[in-house]
Amino acid sequence: MTDNASEKQKKAQEIAMENIFPIFDKTIQQADKELLIKQRGLAIWLTGLSGSGKTSIALQLEKELHRQGFLTQLLDGDNIRSGINSNLGFSANERKENIRRIAEIAKLFVACGLVTINCFVSPSRKMREMAKNIIGESHFVEVYVNTPLKICEQRDVKGLYQKARKGEIPHFTGISAPYEAPQTDFIELKTEHKTVEDSSRELLKIILPLIKL
Ligand code: ADX
Repeated sequence: MTDNASEKQKKAQEIAMENIFPIFDKTIQQADKELLIKQRGLAIWLTGLSGSGKTSIALQLEKELHRQGFLTQLLDGDNIRSGINSNLGFSANERKENIRRIAEIAKLFVACGLVTINCFVSPSRKMREMAKNIIGESHFVEVYVNTPLKICEQRDVKGLYQKARKGEIPHFTGISAPYEAPQTDFIELKTEHKTVEDSSRELLKIILPLIKL
């Protein structure tokens, strides 16, 4: 986009913002919805390399939560990128927009009292911080699915590491694009010597007290 075009777009956005009147405070509030479905809303944010096991753990966790009577919503990178975010690639800016939109979606589910399980590489601390700020710190738990790159690459479930090593996928996280592990305020799942069921059980134990009303 040229400077002129982006200046014009910025101006148009400013005018639009001046003329919208959100009614967030008038809708039925989260606490009332939580009472209705007898659980607390929470966003569980799984971050980690591609192939680290985020989705497998999330699927298992969701199954168990459902079995125990909790209402859940699972959001996953490949799913979201084949739908609402199908116009986004993997440059730093596009990933940021990917995460921004997902966080806004997760926020809506949390506001309905749902346990939202989010599986996204979300490679930078800054973008995960953004997600936390959008959703709200008190409804957000960051989970680092810590699987060494070597293991992810050995597994290579989708064959993407092989392609990335051949230079066929630009900006591939861990190979040609960075991944920043969380440093503070997170739950760590070291998966290398564990089954998916083990990791999911470990996470469930921490999550249950946060979602029970
Ligand atoms: S994020 O970085 O923007 O958070 P997201 O979680 O949505 O990524 O998508 C990651 C998934 O997209 C990976 O699991 C993988 O299947 C696929 N993918 C395709 N290209 C890339 C890439 N360049 N880097 C990482 N993952 C990629």
